Amino acid sequence: MKRLLSALLAAAFLAAPLPAFAQTAEPAPATEAPAPGEAPASSTGVNTVSGEQEGEANVAAAEEHATPHYPLKKPEHMDWSFAGPFGKWDLGQLQRGMQVYREVCSSCHSMNLVAFRNLEALGYSDAQVRALAAEYQIQDGPDANGEMFERPGIPSDHFPAPFPNPEAAAASNGGAHPPDFSLIAKARAVERGFPTFVFDIFTQYAEGGPDYIHALLTGYGEEPPAGLELQPGTHYNPYFIASSALAMAQPISDGQVTYGDGSPETVEQYSRDISAFLMWAAEPHLVERKSLGFVVMIFLIGFAGMLYAVKRRVWSKIPH
Ligand code: HEC
Repeated sequence: MKRLLSALLAAAFLAAPLPAFAQTAEPAPATEAPAPGEAPASSTGVNTVSGEQEGEANVAAAEEHATPHYPLKKPEHMDWSFAGPFGKWDLGQLQRGMQVYREVCSSCHSMNLVAFRNLEALGYSDAQVRALAAEYQIQDGPDANGEMFERPGIPSDHFPAPFPNPEAAAASNGGAHPPDFSLIAKARAVERGFPTFVFDIFTQYAEGGPDYIHALLTGYGEEPPAGLELQPGTHYNPYFIASSALAMAQPISDGQVTYGDGSPETVEQYSRDISAFLMWAAEPHLVERKSLGFVVMIFLIGFAGMLYAVKRRVWSKIPH
């Protein structure tokens, strides 16, 4: 009987991964994100070729009019305070990132899913959040006459969008609509290739989004390779995930935002700060999720050891 039971259990364990696998094999739901660079043919040689060299190779491929793999250069792997199982948000950095968003990016990019009250997680008090929300005019209504009206924002309001709809946004931006920022840090990640993605499981790498945004913002100003034809109204950026050039010109330059905490006012620093802020916006519970996940893994490893010991004990009296 015992044998039959354990045979059944074993069969259940063996069969279990199959549905899980089938689930991951399902096509990803369509999002506005372009498919992050499909496994580039050149990545077969990734073990021997460094990211930088591969970038050069891709740029060379673009020169030869072969179909290049995007992005032409892989984003640099940055140090983020929230990386790894013991990561923490740097609240000062998130506040600076929010300042960059409000002063620069928000004139084109919406952030529809973030409410002002969520900003308390960045270390702001209730009164500060109220004051910040009141700086915005929010459309409300209809009133008793059926008219829409504007009123100062309250903490439960969301960041107002700069354009009434994506079509209006595209019409003012040369035909490309600036994507919403609420989830952008999770919607973009450049494929890392073998063997890096294997190590990523153990280091809990989840910073593909901020690495990409930082690379994109600091990646302007390079000379496009000779022979590369840019569409009119686009700007060359080898880190752009979907092409060699995008409709957004370099959005920020040195000294554009004045920080109150003495941090350097450079494109490099702005890019780090806005990328961290966008990661927070996309996944506010990232830090808790990873630290809890770490404890759960330790527990599961201990539990597996205990189960093995119990199994040995139970079977020890049965001759086999
Ligand atoms: C003048 C308007 C404008 C401003 C200001 C602006 N952007 Fe953009 N942004 C765009 C447009 C337009 C696109 C779409 C480009 C395309 O798809 O070709 C875009 C796209 C992006 C993307 C997505 C790229 C991708 O992979 O699809 C990111 C990230 C981004 N912007 C970041 C920023 C940040 C950060 C700021 C503030 C520092 C900013 N933008 C300010 C117009 C703007």
